Amino acid sequence: MAKFDFSNRDSFGTKIGVIAAAAGSAVGLGNIWRFPYVAGENGGAAFLIIYVLSIIAIGMPVMLSEFAIGRMAQRNAFGAFRKLAPRRPWYLIGVMGILGAFMILSFYSTVAGWTLEYLSDSITNSFAGKSAQELTQSFQTFQSSGWHPVIWQVIFMILTAGIVVSGVEKGIEKYAKVLMPILLVLIFAMVIRSVTLPGSSEGLAFLFAPDFSKLNASVILQALGQAFFSLSIGMGVLITYGSYINKKDNIGNSAAAISLTDTLIAIFAGIAIFPAVFAFNIDPKAGPELVFITLPNIFNQMPAGYFFSILFFLLLVIAALTSSISVLEVVVAFLTEQLNWHRRKATVIAATVITITGIICTMSQGPWDNIRLFGLNVFEILDWTSANLLLPLGGFFIVIFAGWFLNKNQIKEELTNNGTTRAMLLGAYVFIIRFVAPIVIALIFLFGLGVFG
Ligand code: PFF
Repeated sequence: MAKFDFSNRDSFGTKIGVIAAAAGSAVGLGNIWRFPYVAGENGGAAFLIIYVLSIIAIGMPVMLSEFAIGRMAQRNAFGAFRKLAPRRPWYLIGVMGILGAFMILSFYSTVAGWTLEYLSDSITNSFAGKSAQELTQSFQTFQSSGWHPVIWQVIFMILTAGIVVSGVEKGIEKYAKVLMPILLVLIFAMVIRSVTLPGSSEGLAFLFAPDFSKLNASVILQALGQAFFSLSIGMGVLITYGSYINKKDNIGNSAAAISLTDTLIAIFAGIAIFPAVFAFNIDPKAGPELVFITLPNIFNQMPAGYFFSILFFLLLVIAALTSSISVLEVVVAFLTEQLNWHRRKATVIAATVITITGIICTMSQGPWDNIRLFGLNVFEILDWTSANLLLPLGGFFIVIFAGWFLNKNQIKEELTNNGTTRAMLLGAYVFIIRFVAPIVIALIFLFGLGVFG
């Protein structure tokens, strides 16, 4: 069989397309669904502070390292390490990333399915006139029906696979560029509605007035995990995307712009959600259902709420899609480049396997909820372990690789585009990836998992 033709790889067409696609990967359900629910379970403001610190001190340097590795190697997440470090075990980072892709997309597609249901409910105006309790009840009935959320999940996976089959530039880039900015504007409108609800100040205090007695090792680990999950780092998504970035683009600026956008959207989502959580007497610790039982209340109280809810859930589906395609792309790039599979075959097989594991996740939130390990159901196990274990571990090895295995000149050349641009803060970046990030990740990890008790 002929080998994959590396001289003819796909790539992003424009600079803004790169930022849009990578920001599209970063911005998704992680910001609007996962951030509020994990912040709610972990006490709010103190969690937010650790989350933001994790983004700045660890997340951004990991992101930049992924871009650098990918663009330097011009390969998928597995092939990049094979090429830069032949005959060494670094490719295991790529293997971990591929495993992570299967885990993440399994439960991600469950939640994306819920979003589709909510889009359909918005269109049929099903939220109108319902009380907060009734809205909670309907979500739980929907979730526990089993087959109903599964159908939406399968539809979502078909959409994801459909875009990935069309390739990088015509598929991924085209959608991300137009739709992300609209989402930002819409969240802003919801922020305004939520903070002007009677009783909203308690929610703002929850999110912004830190109570440090709520901090403990597990909260810190979850804030770090959320930072990794939200930025799409630690599993090779951005190595893969980095490999499609033009050699003339400034990857440092891109990493900064993407991290900033992602963090702002998460904080906006928090400001939209928590005032409403308190105004409608919802439990901030409600878990994965938090956003779904809160949002419809906001729309019910909003002028033109019918219209806004349709637009919002439509954009949320799209935000989920621009993230899910990036996860699937990790697997597909590996299968096409390393195993020389045709893109269509790779996409169909990977998406089918993920849909099957995904269905198990969806059922575990409903009829199969009683199958538990350490008190967690399948969905919760995949959600918890991928964000809090797999991604930080991947990030740990990625910075060690970039900081210690690659030499400083290689990194410098990549960040300055062979000396044609200035790389501000290069020294600080190298110091962070060599010392700060690995040590901090290792400590948070060991304390968070209770190894040091
Ligand atoms: N960052 C995405 C979000 O916030 O929704 C989710 C995600 C995508 C996580 C890609 C991990 C990943 F590799």
